Amino acid sequence: MSCSTLESLTRCSVAVDLGAARTRVYAKGAGLIVDQPSAVAVNTYSGSLIAVGQAAERMAGRTPQHIEVIRPIANGHVVDIEMARRMVRTLIGEKLPRLRRRRTMQRAVVTVPHDADPLTRRAAVETLSGVGARHVELVEAPIAAAIGSGLPVVHPEGAMVLLCGTTSTQIAVVSLGAIVAAGTVGLGGDTIHHSVVQYLRNRHELLLPSQDVRPLHLALLGSGGVGTGVYTGTIEVQGRDVVSGLARTVTIDPEEVRGAIQTPLTGLLDTIRIVLHRCPPDLVADLAEHGMVLAGGTALLPGLAEQLREHTGMAVQVAEEPELCAVNGLAAMMSGRITPHPTGWDSPAAEGTAVPAGAGALAGGADAVPVPGQDIG
Ligand SMILES: Nc1ncnc2c1ncn2[C@@H]1O[C@H](COP(=O)(O)OP(=O)(O)OP(=O)(O)O)[C@@H](O)[C@H]1O
Ligand SMILES: [Mg+2]
Repeated sequence: MSCSTLESLTRCSVAVDLGAARTRVYAKGAGLIVDQPSAVAVNTYSGSLIAVGQAAERMAGRTPQHIEVIRPIANGHVVDIEMARRMVRTLIGEKLPRLRRRRTMQRAVVTVPHDADPLTRRAAVETLSGVGARHVELVEAPIAAAIGSGLPVVHPEGAMVLLCGTTSTQIAVVSLGAIVAAGTVGLGGDTIHHSVVQYLRNRHELLLPSQDVRPLHLALLGSGGVGTGVYTGTIEVQGRDVVSGLARTVTIDPEEVRGAIQTPLTGLLDTIRIVLHRCPPDLVADLAEHGMVLAGGTALLPGLAEQLREHTGMAVQVAEEPELCAVNGLAAMMSGRITPHPTGWDSPAAEGTAVPAGAGALAGGADAVPVPGQDIG
C-alpha cells in the first residue's frame, strides 16, 4: 500500500471511525452525522434488516428466536463486512439525501488499529467501497486520536496518547506525525465490565442483567475513584442467583470490586512501561515533561486518570470529548487544520493549516487505497 499525505486526506469528504461499540461518521460541510452503536438487528429467516444503531442495540438480549443482533466490528476490526456495509449505508442514508450521499462517499478516510494487518485494512476498505467509496484512505487510530485531542503531533517532540476503547487500549508515542513506539493491551470498557461481572458471579454467585453492568461499575468507581479508597459505604446490587435462578440482592463493598479490576489495570501499566522502553531517550524526556493524554470512551472511567498518574508519575490529561477524538482527528486532517487544542501544551507554532514541510509527516500513519468504482446501494 502506498503512503499518502495530508494533501490526499484533504480531498476526502467523509471520515468514518468504525468502533466496536460505536460508529461515527463526519461529513465535510455537515459535521458529525452519525454517532450510533455499532449494531445491526436482522431477521434470521429472511436475512432482512430490522434495525441498526441505537434501535438494534436496544434489542440486544431481548430478541425472539428469529431476530439476531449482530456487532459487525470487534477489537477494531470489521469482522462482518456485509453487515458493516449495511449498517454504515443505513446510518448515513438516514442523514444524507441519496444524491448528496453519493457525492460525499466518493473519497473516504477511515481509522484502523495501529497494528492492523493487511486483512484488517482490506476489510475496512471493502466496507467503505461497498457503500460507494471509490478511494479510501486509512489512518492509524492513535494518530487520529492524538490530533483530535489536540496534541502537537506534527512537531519534532514526543506526545503520548492512550486510545482507551471497548476491548483494547492502544498506546502510542507520536512525533513528526508518525508513531515512534506503540503497544496494545486488552483493556477497555468491556474488559472492565466483564471483570466486575465475573467477580460478582464467582464471589457472590450473582448474575447481573447486561445493561446494569455499566451503571454498577460507575456507581462503584465514581464514588471514590479507582483505588483511591475514598468511598467507604456499601452498595446494594440486584441480580439473579446463579444456582436458584431467583432474584437476589447482595451488599458489596466497592473496595472489593476495585480489587477485581486491578488485574486489567496492571496490564495497562505494564504496556505503558514497555512502550516507554521502546522510545528513544529524547522522546522519553518530552513525555516526562508533557505526560500523556487519554482518548476513547473508556478514558471517562472514573479514577482511571488518577490511577495512571499515581503509578507512572506522569501528568495525565483526559481529552475533551475523548470518545470523539478519533473522528475529530480525521475531520481535522480532512480540513487540513491540524492545530493543537487550546488545552494542549503547545499553542503558538502550529497555527493555521499546519501541514508540515513535505506534508509527508503523516506518511507513516495514513495509507491510500484506490478501490474499484462502485456506487452507493
Ligand atoms: N462514562 C463512561 N465511563 C466509563 N466507560 C465509558 C463511559 N463512556 C463510555 N465508556 C466505555 O467506552 C467504551 C466505548 O468507547 P469508544 O466509543 O471509544 O469505543 P469504540 O471506538 O466504539 O471502540 P474501539 O475503538 O475499541 O473499537 C465502551 O466500552 C464504554 O463502556
Ligand atoms: Mg474507537
